[in-house]
Amino acid sequence: MLRLAVLVSGGGTNLQAIMDSIKVGAITNAEIVTVISNNKGAYALERAKAYGAESLLLSPKDFNTREEFNQKLLETLKEREIDLVVLAGYLVVVPPCVIKEYENRIINIHPSLIPSFCGTGCYGLHVHEKALARGVKVSGATVHFVDEGTDTGPIILQQPVMVRQGDTPEILQKRIMEQAEWIILPKAIDLIANGKVHVDGRTVTIDE
Ligand code: GRF
Repeated sequence: MLRLAVLVSGGGTNLQAIMDSIKVGAITNAEIVTVISNNKGAYALERAKAYGAESLLLSPKDFNTREEFNQKLLETLKEREIDLVVLAGYLVVVPPCVIKEYENRIINIHPSLIPSFCGTGCYGLHVHEKALARGVKVSGATVHFVDEGTDTGPIILQQPVMVRQGDTPEILQKRIMEQAEWIILPKAIDLIANGKVHVDGRTVTIDE
């Protein structure tokens, strides 16, 4: 069983997709051990409780220094013998000590086709604002491993989504969630849990 920690900051619809996929058997060989939020008001925490997973509040604001927070996060993951860290709308920069300890064992969902519309400051609705401002006809979502850069790690899965005339950032965000994010994030977890994902430098191969 792959032991998952899901890190969240907001509504938690991607967390919900993971929980639903485990329930119906679309993700096998994986269990959610803990859900960690930096935001007390995150609805994701309610979802975790309803599902019956441990939910933890761990905010940099509650620590004297960032280093103390970083160490606490690392310790929390290690204590629970976490195998895979899933960033599902987590708005905190993952500390280098965690990235080092969990090399190629942290994944993130990003709401665009990387390398478009990603990097520092490109999160949430900003991503879709930028895509619409550039006038792209196709956007989508990416699941990637997390390295020390911002959205620079090896790409695992991508799913394109058509942009439609008249889209607002909110409309495009919703379509990308429904048609891409909620599908490829659970799928990536299932593939990893079943040993089908292999990383060689920046290239990921997936067993058929
Ligand atoms: C998603 O758009 C995800 O791609 C991004 O943050 C958003 C989180 O949404 N990283 P939710 O909390 O899963 O509903």
